[in-house]
Amino acid sequence: MKVDGTPYRSLWWDADAQAVKIIDQRWLPHDFRIEQLNSLADYARAIKDMHVRGAPLIGATAAYGMALAMRLDPSDAALQDCWDFLHQTRPTAINLRWALDRCRARLVALPLERRGPEALALAHEIAEEDVEINRRIGVNGLQLIQQIAANKGDGSPVRLLTHCNAGWLATVDWGTATSPMYHAHDAGVALHVWVDETRPRNQGALTAWELGSHGISHQYITDNAGGHLMQHGLVDMVITGTDRTTRQGDVCNKIGTYLKALAANDNNIPFYVALPSPTIDWTVRDGVAEIPIEDRPAEEISHIQGSSATGDIASLQVTPVGTEVANPAFDVTPNHLVTGLITERGVCAASEAGLASLFPDLAPSAAAQV
Ligand code: MRU
Repeated sequence: MKVDGTPYRSLWWDADAQAVKIIDQRWLPHDFRIEQLNSLADYARAIKDMHVRGAPLIGATAAYGMALAMRLDPSDAALQDCWDFLHQTRPTAINLRWALDRCRARLVALPLERRGPEALALAHEIAEEDVEINRRIGVNGLQLIQQIAANKGDGSPVRLLTHCNAGWLATVDWGTATSPMYHAHDAGVALHVWVDETRPRNQGALTAWELGSHGISHQYITDNAGGHLMQHGLVDMVITGTDRTTRQGDVCNKIGTYLKALAANDNNIPFYVALPSPTIDWTVRDGVAEIPIEDRPAEEISHIQGSSATGDIASLQVTPVGTEVANPAFDVTPNHLVTGLITERGVCAASEAGLASLFPDLAPSAAAQV
């Protein structure tokens, strides 16, 4: 996607520097800073402290981290150490484990001298695949949006609501939930997007920045506004992303997603989740019981970051000093609240049968389920 007319991805390989560069998202939307990742510690910090964020991007970043580790030391011990070191950075988004497992499985079978170059080639492959998966999610989601536009029949904008940032910044490109929006806008469908601010980190500001750069009409709303807008007929469809979707279609996404799904259900509004297949955790069935939910630092809630009138980025305390806070970063939306999953292979029901119908090659066999 473009930033001030220049095409960017959220991370890219700089051949001159022989290193990965990322957009350091901690400073957006106020400042556009690029960071070069030079060490494995840089990779771990970038993921844990959210210089990069969003499930697919975390996975792609980890693959490049593995490539760096293999260039420095291709031994079996270094391979496992790298897996462990990067895996402990963030617990909820399954793409991290998916990417590390894929790298380990491919590399461990190779002689040591081939591991460095092969790991880098694999990281490129994972990044390119992510772009294509998200492009297809956009094409499939476009059809749903076009259908809603046709049903409205009056040419008025399709009003979408989204939570967090499941945009191109959260993937290598396109985004998941935003990809159908970009495709619909580019196809000439009139849209208006309600953007949840998504406290505590306000990833909605990233979504607003993205949509604004693409010329898509949108308004930034408080996290508590969605239910009200739905009750008054101002939302036609909800689309969110996901950090981990279980084999029965439960969806774990940024905290607050569940409440949006409840409100959508109460108001008969379709609630769709954009789901790249690497975000499916086939080892887990019951999301509420089984998915580990990340606890993030208290400062994310007790403080808020913004830009001052002089353009400085500052952090301000919003709670009384010493107030204890709790900061669970994700929640689980049970499958019965999800209208459908928009995947790279089509749209399916949020159910075991639905996912298995689109991904028979990935779903555990019936024999393995008992
Ligand atoms: O904590 P974050 O910012 O990494 O959380 C991101 C989300 O919850 C996204 O909705 C999710 O990763 C889907 S991204 C395409």
